[in-house]
Amino acid sequence: MSIRNKSFTNIEQLSDEDIKTIFHRAEVFKKLHAEKKSFKKAFSLSADQDLNALLVFIEPSTRTRISFEMACNNLGIHPILFSDVNSSSIAKGESLDETFRTLKSLNPSVIILRYKGSHFKFDDSIPVVNGGFGSYEHPTQALIDVFTVKMAQKKLKNQNILILGDVLHSRVGNSNLKLFTKLGAKVAFCSPSSLFPKDDLWKNVHCFKDINKGLKWADVVMCLRIQQERHDMSIGLSLAEYRDQYHLGVDQLNLLKETAIILHPGPCTFGVEMSIDVFKDKRSFIIEQVTNGVFIRSAVLSLVLDFKWTFD
Ligand code: NCD
Repeated sequence: MSIRNKSFTNIEQLSDEDIKTIFHRAEVFKKLHAEKKSFKKAFSLSADQDLNALLVFIEPSTRTRISFEMACNNLGIHPILFSDVNSSSIAKGESLDETFRTLKSLNPSVIILRYKGSHFKFDDSIPVVNGGFGSYEHPTQALIDVFTVKMAQKKLKNQNILILGDVLHSRVGNSNLKLFTKLGAKVAFCSPSSLFPKDDLWKNVHCFKDINKGLKWADVVMCLRIQQERHDMSIGLSLAEYRDQYHLGVDQLNLLKETAIILHPGPCTFGVEMSIDVFKDKRSFIIEQVTNGVFIRSAVLSLVLDFKWTFD
């Protein structure tokens, strides 16, 4: 399997070669960016090729949307944004399926989609890139997270990855589990029992009942927000109780290895799952994750659209 010239909706679609290519291209883009050079130096596009990307973002987003838009601009792809549902025909009662059919009929070069579901049928006539599907997957975020760890410490094999917080509703958690495991890391999680993941994917994943033990074990901590907008269930704890038991604060920092890496896909709810001091700690790479978003998403788009790479 490969995502070259195809839709990219889940981690399983990535071949080992794809992963290598994406990380290599992202590194090249990072370097070009540091040298204030154009990304277009790395590939050749025929002069008569007009590419556009339809960004369908019908769930709120800051990092993902803007980094995809910047990636498009950097690659010479014209981005067209569809995000204001209230001014679209959805407000007149048009169904999502009909909306998707309409948008596909406009024949964009690629669709980048963020929405609540995961049922949308992809026929590959127009490649669709997952920009966050409900509680299912967020594969470009996982690529960013792994790339950030690679850039910070190089090694992934046998590294201990602790996913902390609302694992049940996290598409980031699902994609992280798949990608880190595929690359030889060991994943465990820690969350209140009401937020334990239910998907079979997590069946054999170790759960730390004691957060302190998990933090001492971890080489990487991926901290997750309580994604209240994705559910209306009670988590069985008050926010104060959640904070008491699962908060990553200054006291917990002392338990972490000196070499540990702290990640968060954002947005962070400071004072709930994490304190601002943790965000500012030297082991936190949360800002790097955001910055790396542009490089990884540029690399993914260049592969999905099968750009002719000329840089090596
Ligand atoms: C995540 C998402 O939307 O799944 N954020 C992101 O894409 N950067 C995580 C979250 O919303 O908590």
